[in-house]
Amino acid sequence: MGSRHIPVLVEEVMTFLRCEPGHTYVDATLGGGGHASEILRRSAPDGVLIGMEWDGDALSEARDTLMPFGDRVKILRENFIHLSDLVKAESVDGILLDLGLSSIQLEKGERGFSFRGEGPLDMRMDERTNESAADLVNHLSLEELEYILYHYGEERWAKRIARAIVQEREREPIGTTQTLRKIIYRAIPRRFHSRRIDPATRTFQALRIRVNDELENLRKILEAGWKVLRKGGRMCVISFHSLEDRMVKETFRRLEREGEIRVLTKKPVTPSEEERRGNPRSRSAKLRCAERI
Ligand SMILES: C[S@@+](CC[C@H](N)C(=O)[O-])C[C@H]1O[C@@H](n2cnc3c(N)ncnc32)[C@H](O)[C@@H]1O
Repeated sequence: MGSRHIPVLVEEVMTFLRCEPGHTYVDATLGGGGHASEILRRSAPDGVLIGMEWDGDALSEARDTLMPFGDRVKILRENFIHLSDLVKAESVDGILLDLGLSSIQLEKGERGFSFRGEGPLDMRMDERTNESAADLVNHLSLEELEYILYHYGEERWAKRIARAIVQEREREPIGTTQTLRKIIYRAIPRRFHSRRIDPATRTFQALRIRVNDELENLRKILEAGWKVLRKGGRMCVISFHSLEDRMVKETFRRLEREGEIRVLTKKPVTPSEEERRGNPRSRSAKLRCAERI
């Protein structure tokens, strides 16, 4: 247990953010504080970092990691959708969004994010709010479940899995990650079980996105985040699946057409071969960056 979260695309992000002394940066997804400490190192001696994080476990790890930087760091336990209410307009030089989960969350079985470990079917990143994944699988209608699995998981077996969930919960409420995994395994015909990705991957992704409202949150910050940036300030977004990357790409393009921003990455930046080898989690990472004009 407890290997640290390895930040992805660090050099690439730092190049786009052009960290400088005296500047202010927002890390809207602080996680373990990996990217944040690099931003602080490169903007020494007086660059400021505002960190946002809604997960209590990640937050305490970030506090420890960032302690040496003293009062150059301000940490807010908040959903990043509130960024433009909490930070003064046009006061920031760069924003980083590194979406998805940190290893801190994935590796704790009791958080229920991973289909590999046993744990309660929870998946809430902010433990203070929202319904858990168990609430969803036990209470949503068949149609809603199918919709979520199809749209947020791009799961072609959405209908069969949703039906199996509803059947199973009539016997007994579904409470754990392994119970759900077994239901998924039985629902997808054996010959379609992929060796490359676990049959439970898409369903777990879909539930996590819905539990945490991830796409809606991303949509909101991609619209409102610019307000806190000075002209010339930059926003970097790292995403880990196609639904997010598509939303970033399309929103950036539209805002560019509307004359608000300039896109700096015509194609997404992806990790080097070396990084992919050293950190398998980095393989699906895509970075896009744009500048406020
Ligand atoms: C991939 S991790 C970030 C890792 C970090 N860049 C590092 O180097 O350690 C993503 C983090 O964003 C947080 N997060 C996701 N959505 C959020 C939101 N809407 N508001 C605040 N934090 C969020 C998650 O809890 C998680 O800790």
